[in-house]
Amino acid sequence: MSNAGEAQAGILRPMFWAHVVTDDAGFSKSWTIVTRCKLYIQYEVKPFPKRVHFLDFFYDLDRIYSSIARGIRSRISGSDQNPTSTSETQTNIKDGKGPATSLFINEIERPTPTAAQALIRVKAFGLNRMDLLQREGKYPVPPQAPKTLGVEFSGIIEELASESESGFKKGDAVFGLAYGGAYAEYIVVSTHMLVHKPDELSFEECAGIPETWITALQAMYMVADYKPGQSILWHAGASNVSIAGIQLSKADSASKIFATTRSDEKNKFVVEKLGATAAFNSETQDWAGELLKATDGNGVDVIVDFMGAGFFASNLKAAAKDAHIVTLATLTGMKLPAETDIGAFLFKRVRMEGSTLRARDEKYQGKLRDQLVEHALPKFKDGTFKAYVEKVMDWEKIVEAHQLMESNKTKGKIIMTINW
Ligand SMILES: NC(=O)c1ccc[n+]([C@@H]2O[C@H](COP(=O)([O-])OP(=O)(O)OC[C@H]3O[C@@H](n4cnc5c(N)ncnc54)[C@H](OP(=O)(O)O)[C@@H]3O)[C@@H](O)[C@H]2O)c1
Repeated sequence: MSNAGEAQAGILRPMFWAHVVTDDAGFSKSWTIVTRCKLYIQYEVKPFPKRVHFLDFFYDLDRIYSSIARGIRSRISGSDQNPTSTSETQTNIKDGKGPATSLFINEIERPTPTAAQALIRVKAFGLNRMDLLQREGKYPVPPQAPKTLGVEFSGIIEELASESESGFKKGDAVFGLAYGGAYAEYIVVSTHMLVHKPDELSFEECAGIPETWITALQAMYMVADYKPGQSILWHAGASNVSIAGIQLSKADSASKIFATTRSDEKNKFVVEKLGATAAFNSETQDWAGELLKATDGNGVDVIVDFMGAGFFASNLKAAAKDAHIVTLATLTGMKLPAETDIGAFLFKRVRMEGSTLRARDEKYQGKLRDQLVEHALPKFKDGTFKAYVEKVMDWEKIVEAHQLMESNKTKGKIIMTINW
């Protein structure tokens, strides 16, 4: 990666060393600036107009830095979306994968919409846990996805291949789900995955809805075959998928809603704010035993699991007869200990099914988008559902945002905004 790659606005601030020689009156006679970014020294730094102190000098550099940074972001291309002669900026990963600090903003070709696609000027995009895995090179990215991270966004339609058929027009405020490419100023997506932004919700709130609410809908209805009156357990209860899932379960008459988290503070949030029946601390409690007590020994009908190996045996213990367990992630690992007892599968007639959203085709995702629009959106509008947002940040703070998600301290979406 070149120096240009290191000089990303807001990601790595360039370091300046300055040596200023002044005459007796304080006017600059000569000065030298050494930066860690060669590109910056190509820009004209105006001679000092009057007596300049060091602080002024740095202040001036900072202003110059801010104004030119947008224009000089490196020319490293990372997109395979249909290019045109126009350009945009997007978030890229130094060396293709790595820690949060390898994220930077650069300039790429702006994509153009093909038939049934729209070009959206992005106002906000949401972070998702899979972004961390993708950044580390550990996520099986679907072949149709652009390299740029990000699967959900809100913004304004800038261009549209065909207005009449899609129900959208230029200038519409929308939000939606994408296979990738949302960490950018522009994104092209199928109009089938777009939703009109309701006036009742902000761009920031809308940007954080698609991935997690659609995943929760998918887990509950398409995979677990949830029916009103059943009991349900959401692991990682304060994760964004579970924040959506608990609200959906409550609205659809779950008899009991349980959750686990690793923090008492999150459990309080899950019960008091989201309305779960009870939440257990998986670090300090025998959560499966507590759940059995809370269900008179019957167990829970539906379990939505992100934990994998570490929770496998406890999930079987907590499952009711004919329970459905949906596996959406393997946060605690993929390999079971050799002595794992799978007897309860048989005796409780448990059904366990894994699912992924991003790998699904547009038809499958489109059905879920329709469910979101028909069943969830009216409840967002009337205030039944809430889009919990933990933090809104300028997208140039993307490194900080990924680090915040990695801290596991959030109870809501991290949303990045693009100023325009
Ligand atoms: N299969 C799919 O289609 C699909 C789609 C979307 C998301 N997902 C997955 O669903 C999960 C939730 O996503 P999200 O975006 O809602 O996440 P999120 O808001 O970032 O929350 C994830 C939470 O999981 C808990 N956690 C993390 N590592 C853990 C570990 N090793 N052991 C136990 N708990 C751990 C943390 O809370 P506590 O520490 O408080 O418990 C963390 O805050 C992720 O694993 C994501 O990859 C799957």
